[in-house]
Amino acid sequence: MTNNHTADTSKQIILNAFDMNCAGHINHGLWTHPRDESHRFNELSYWTDLAKTLEQGLFDGLFIADITGVYDVYQGNIDLTLKESIQLPSHDPSTLVSAMAAVTEHLGFGVTVNLSYETPYQFARRLASLDHLTQGRIGWNIVTGYLDSAERLIGQKGLKDHDLRYEQAEEFLELCYKFWEGSWEDDAVRKDKTRRIFSDPAKVHAIQHQGQFYQSQGVFQVSPSLQRTPVLYQAGASPRGLAFATQHAEGMFIGADKPEKIKQQVDKIRAQALEQGRDPHAIKLFVGISVVTAETDELAQEKLAEYIRYASPEAGLAHFSSSVGMDLSKFSDDEAIPYQKTNSIASVNSKFKEQKITPKDLKAQLKLGGRYPLIVGSGASVAEQLIDLLDETGVDGFNLTRTVAPESHQDFIRWVIPELQQRGRYKTEYAHGSLRNKLFQNGNRLSAPHPADQYRLHSAAQKLAPQSAEHTE
Ligand SMILES: Cc1cc2nc3c(=O)[nH]c(=O)nc-3n(C[C@H](O)[C@H](O)[C@H](O)COP(=O)(O)O)c2cc1C
Repeated sequence: MTNNHTADTSKQIILNAFDMNCAGHINHGLWTHPRDESHRFNELSYWTDLAKTLEQGLFDGLFIADITGVYDVYQGNIDLTLKESIQLPSHDPSTLVSAMAAVTEHLGFGVTVNLSYETPYQFARRLASLDHLTQGRIGWNIVTGYLDSAERLIGQKGLKDHDLRYEQAEEFLELCYKFWEGSWEDDAVRKDKTRRIFSDPAKVHAIQHQGQFYQSQGVFQVSPSLQRTPVLYQAGASPRGLAFATQHAEGMFIGADKPEKIKQQVDKIRAQALEQGRDPHAIKLFVGISVVTAETDELAQEKLAEYIRYASPEAGLAHFSSSVGMDLSKFSDDEAIPYQKTNSIASVNSKFKEQKITPKDLKAQLKLGGRYPLIVGSGASVAEQLIDLLDETGVDGFNLTRTVAPESHQDFIRWVIPELQQRGRYKTEYAHGSLRNKLFQNGNRLSAPHPADQYRLHSAAQKLAPQSAEHTE
């Protein structure tokens, strides 16, 4: 890889650990490795230890993926999913946050919540409560779901059309913005014991919402937290998904594997953000990667060979089948997988349209059980490759998957972080303030221009109607 001449070679890498409240997240099969501890995912100490480890490595965040539903597309059943623990069992990600926040001071938490099965009010309340308890370290990965199994479990008739899910998401967010930004004035909470005023009634306003999917009227139950709106993450990649994400997101995940594809996606996202009237750099861009590292390049290769013995490319293929909504067990190893329009992840599925891909190609790509680009080498060579990837593509940072847990994160901190620091490309201490302030150095609240801004209680409006008990949008 060569450096792009226009790259900012002092840009520091933002780093998230990418994980999930389950044994097999992305690199399938590695839970069977003798040193892997992910089978302990239902123990709190597994997560509090991880949080402490990540904070020692100055990670910006722990990003917790989630799905509603089960992977039942491959071979038309869940047998392999159960045997290989392909995100089943998997537990609620938000339950981990308070405990991890209690043992850390700076680490941010990006929690994935599928809005299709939430009511905006209950959801907004839960996230605002977490923003209080973490002192502004909470983020939300906005997903709309892509599994038919989820619709059956929740008791609805079938997965909503891909683009309609994003229409619903727009309205869900609008209502959340009203709750988070538009119900309580900043100084509504007084906690004045002498005058017996906990909250000032003149500064708490009812919101109104009558929409296509949701109705709500009344005051929000949670007082303003440090960030109010959590840091918003999204991974939309289809035309409709991109339009949604570039309008709302402050962090986006890019699923591409090759540097040129990543760069194309980066340029597209920044251009669309500009069209939406936003600063193209008001969205931090992350790419998912897997790293195997050790003291030397040779030892890293040996470690990779050892890990591969435990990985399950077939489990990776089963996961992939659900992502694209197609049973890939039906194709022989050398058969080109035909493109079929499905209701699942449009952007992953469209790869079959763009190029000839066989199950054998996919299994080769999934040799470590997962589909993220794999970087193998000593700390110095991994650091060089990450820096090149950042400079060449214009992304802001990485979502680092786990391979053998927690060994792979410990290895990364031991071998790679010091090399990045020596090259001036990784912080040597945390910045202060909320997750949002750490990411953008621009305060704790969402910066305008942003769709949330129109729902805020601006001071001019407050001066016009200071006694109003009703605030309507
Ligand atoms: C890095 C990354 C992480 C993702 N994590 C999740 C997740 O945890 N849960 C989920 O339901 N979807 C997840 N997705 C899928 C996205 O929500 C979305 O469906 C996908 O990026 C495709 O967007 P599209 O619908 O616009 O094609 C993730 C995608 C990427 C690229």
